[in-house]
Amino acid sequence: MDINQRDSFGSKFGVIAAAAGSAIGLGNIWRFPYILGENGGGAFLLVYLLFVVGIGIPVMLSEFTIGRSAQRNAVGSFIKLAPGKPWYLVGVMGVGAAFMILAFYTVVAGWTLEYVYQSVINGFHGKTQLEIGQMFDHFRETSRPVIWFAIFMLMTLGIVIAGVKNGIEKYTKILMPILLLILIIISIRSITLPGSSQGLKFLFYPDFSKITPKVILEALGQAFFSLSIGMGTLITYGSYIQKKEDLMNTAVSVTMADTLIAVLAGVAIFPAVFAFGIPPAAEEGLVYKTLPVIFQQMPGGYLFSLLFFVLLAVAAVTSTISVLEVIVAYFSEELNMSRKAATWLGTISVGVLGIFASYSGKVFDVLNFTSANILLPVGGLFIVLFIGWYFGRKRTFAEISNEGVLKARLFNVYLFLVRFIAPIAIALVFLNGIGLIKF
Ligand code: PHE
Repeated sequence: MDINQRDSFGSKFGVIAAAAGSAIGLGNIWRFPYILGENGGGAFLLVYLLFVVGIGIPVMLSEFTIGRSAQRNAVGSFIKLAPGKPWYLVGVMGVGAAFMILAFYTVVAGWTLEYVYQSVINGFHGKTQLEIGQMFDHFRETSRPVIWFAIFMLMTLGIVIAGVKNGIEKYTKILMPILLLILIIISIRSITLPGSSQGLKFLFYPDFSKITPKVILEALGQAFFSLSIGMGTLITYGSYIQKKEDLMNTAVSVTMADTLIAVLAGVAIFPAVFAFGIPPAAEEGLVYKTLPVIFQQMPGGYLFSLLFFVLLAVAAVTSTISVLEVIVAYFSEELNMSRKAATWLGTISVGVLGIFASYSGKVFDVLNFTSANILLPVGGLFIVLFIGWYFGRKRTFAEISNEGVLKARLFNVYLFLVRFIAPIAIALVFLNGIGLIKF
């Protein structure tokens, strides 16, 4: 395909908004708090932050570099940059991960729509904390989650079919800043609840005795999941970034925004969890069981509840489109399908898997755990190895510095991380976490 025919992001802000839109989503607001709750709080946060900086930024920048230099989808990029070599399998694994993630992620996104609906009809009103918790559990036993799932898949399809600039970029630019604002307001309400300080302590005070190999692996998996790295989403988005943009700067900005939102979600949720006596390890229902209780306790709760769940759905859709785009770009460029056919085929096949994920908690858990904690770290490992040891210093520097136009002052630090620190750290955490080695 001719490079000039490819769609691209129109502006610097558009690039950051789209990539941050992919990164920021249910991973930050739904997954991060409950995984942190299950893995001991402050100590998890500390390990998480270390991984975000030391591994997350280098992997993200490597993905942008691969995508922008090849101008192709996740599989095609490796074929183009390493012809005849097995590196393309990293892309194939990424496309596989995209199917798995989209299937369970869109189920959770569907729950969000139910909560929008409940907010509209004022369904939480007058309910106790216990009743709100039961509402979530009952809802999951009905067929409603599957219907919402299907609706959410179709919303995703609608945006992706419209293309990169007129679909993805247009929506993310406006909606992400509003989400940040509302999260700040909810956090303020949460920390001003009586008894909230325990929650802040849980979130920020590291108790090192809680750190186990599994906690460390969960932190790594969460970092990959939240930053949308390790499976070619940002290779694909990188291929739509224009040659004049600053990749390093983009990676750092996106990572900072993503981390800020995750920590803010923690600040919104944990003080309330402790103030209301909800167990912090309330699994995947945590956000859905706590936040409606907070909304009941604040002036204007009706409005906040509505706004919050609408924005959560928006944050989710800017992520689901980025996952679907991995599949669509692959189908359309490598298998020569039209964009329209590729989008429909992707949607339908994910749809089938998602129905299982929606009805069966087991399938849901397997997809959730395997994608985040296994496929993404393994994918990330090969991505940094590719850049560090195959693509090499010269070509990587040329891409990151825009052929010498930018100074890229931290390039040597980046290369060191990519060659040594990130691969060794990922390999150790991974093997230790799945129990293959012990130290
Ligand atoms: N990063 C997204 C979130 O936190 C989820 C995601 C994972 C998107 C992997 C793309 C790829 O919600």
